[in-house]
Amino acid sequence: MEYNTVTLLYFSGTGSTEHAASCLERQFTERGIKIHKQNMAKISPSNVEVSDLLIILSPIYAYRLAELTESFLKKLPDGKQRPVAVLSVSGGGEVSPNTACRVPAKRYLTRRGYDVVYENMLVMPSNFATQAEPHLNLALLTVLPEKVETIINELLEGEKRLTAPKTKDRLITTFGVAEHLGGSIFGKNLYATSDCNQCGLCVKNCPKKNIKMVNGRPQFGWRCMWCLKCVYACNRRAILPGIMKSIVLKDGYDIKKMSRLAAKEPKQEAYTSKSGDQWEGVMKYLNK
Ligand SMILES: Cc1cc2nc3c(=O)[nH]c(=O)nc-3n(C[C@H](O)[C@H](O)[C@H](O)COP(=O)(O)O)c2cc1C
Ligand code: SF4
Ligand code: SF4
Repeated sequence: MEYNTVTLLYFSGTGSTEHAASCLERQFTERGIKIHKQNMAKISPSNVEVSDLLIILSPIYAYRLAELTESFLKKLPDGKQRPVAVLSVSGGGEVSPNTACRVPAKRYLTRRGYDVVYENMLVMPSNFATQAEPHLNLALLTVLPEKVETIINELLEGEKRLTAPKTKDRLITTFGVAEHLGGSIFGKNLYATSDCNQCGLCVKNCPKKNIKMVNGRPQFGWRCMWCLKCVYACNRRAILPGIMKSIVLKDGYDIKKMSRLAAKEPKQEAYTSKSGDQWEGVMKYLNK
């Protein structure tokens, strides 16, 4: 398939999708294909660059693409039947019910006049509640360039890769929309402790503009989509959840640090896990 230009529309809460976006950008550029990398949190749908191929790249929250991504796609200008690929990024991989995570996004894109030609899942270290074993997290970063290369090859070869998730997974994804309410309640209950030094970073970087500085202390509104950016990016670790505390990883989440560590790890022939089937999707992805 001849694609001279590609627009990569991405959103990232805690940096892993951004890391994958940079990998895609690098590899398309190396192949002489012009790529426009645009962050959905920073542009409006009417400013999306028109290219030969559109790629959507988004983390999944509660079995569907992030709310910010889905809202953005619903407002895209007419796609005029241009091709689009949907790439999801998850912590758990292509297992039930994640398999249906792209279904709503594909529907919105079709309604906006796009031709969905390809979908796939990238797996990155989970930022939510629990993680696979440390060596597997690093392995996910080690194999990323290879996974991206395969995706680009398949796109350029014109492979039509579309999945048909089971009804049960589709149903669960439909109920996943309740995450919007969950995120709202979670965010309203975030608070900044006295360790806050009023640097303002969280206010500036919240993709939903949900944080305001009031009397020198960040205050959280109802617009949160629980991306966890503010929680993990605060240098003082001053933002804490008032409820659903277990979703925040105790040791934080620093994708740049993990990538530096991963760069020292050679790729292995096969990966093994001591935690049984719990990370089945990660193991399948790593050993494919
Ligand atoms: C609120 C929330 C819900 C999540 N739900 C899922 C999920 O349903 N399935 C999954 O595999 N990963 C889930 N994750 C993990 C993220 O998709 C994963 O860590 C991703 O790499 C985060 O991307 P980012 O760093 O670009 O924000 C969730 C993360 C958050 C914050
Ligand atoms: S990023 Fe942390 S230290 Fe900075 S204003 Fe927000 S809560 Fe305070
Ligand atoms: S308040 Fe924090 S968790 Fe909620 S959307 Fe903003 S940055 Fe993300």
